Amino acid sequence: MLNDIILKTLNINKSFKIERNIFNPGNIYIDVVKNVSLDLKRGQILGIAGESGSGKTTFAKIISGLLSFDSGEVVIDNKNILDYTRHELARKIQMIFQDPFSSLNPKLSVGTIIYEAMDNNINKTERAIEMLKSVGLPEDSLHKYPHQFSGGQRQRIAIARALTSEPEIIIADEPVSSLDISIQAQIMNIFLDLKDKLKLSYIIILHDLNLLAAISDNIAIMKNGEIVEYGTSEEIINNPKDIYTQKLISSIPVIP
Ligand SMILES: Nc1ncnc2c1ncn2[C@@H]1O[C@H](COP(=O)(O)OP(=O)(O)OP(=O)(O)O)[C@@H](O)[C@H]1O
Ligand SMILES: [Mg+2]
Repeated sequence: MLNDIILKTLNINKSFKIERNIFNPGNIYIDVVKNVSLDLKRGQILGIAGESGSGKTTFAKIISGLLSFDSGEVVIDNKNILDYTRHELARKIQMIFQDPFSSLNPKLSVGTIIYEAMDNNINKTERAIEMLKSVGLPEDSLHKYPHQFSGGQRQRIAIARALTSEPEIIIADEPVSSLDISIQAQIMNIFLDLKDKLKLSYIIILHDLNLLAAISDNIAIMKNGEIVEYGTSEEIINNPKDIYTQKLISSIPVIP
């Protein structure tokens, strides 16, 4: 069924405890994600933007099952995230991180990195080559190590690894911001290509609100852990309601 809701969050809250020190003698908690409720429809892209420290990565980790949360609900394909086993969840949602340099283990060959994400009972080499080809990398990449690749190629490897478990949702956290401008479009195009081929749904976090609007169906703007604006990309770009969003749009540099 197209356009049903594949991922839903309801009033997610998360706080972090600040370690006690001479300046903070008592326990202090900071609220990093506050009452975040969002929907991702199947086959669509939900974009998230917001200033540094607004809680985007924390939220992304929560819905990927990488981080616990204090209250609220995450429902993936009509099932509470807490009722999934780790293995089941990996087949639903995969996260791709900003920095492909630190997200790939430098001691492992690309083949091993991809094999580790696989079920044991399938033809690993054949499947790994298929994954590499789907992100535009040659099959001899299997025997190489991360340091032998450029940043853009490493992000392709990270995408190949994420696809290996055949997830239905990809959450990409600033997936191109550590890459050269010339490579950014290539990687974004891989995401869009794979979306149609593999019928994926995406949550994409980007600083560039114009680019985000160009690719997303809906956009949520986060500020201080809260969603301050949420609507279709057109609504957000053409008629931003929140002053903060207006600022974010006007801060996008215009090329003369
Ligand atoms: N493990 C942690 N322990 C304590 N505080 C944390 C932890 N992780 C994140 N924070 C704090 O939570 C807030 C939100 O961080 P988060 O990384 O989610 O922001 P972000 O929106 O992804 O920022 P950026 O755009 O810079 O990536 C920040 O104030 C950060 O310092
Ligand atoms: Mg972040």
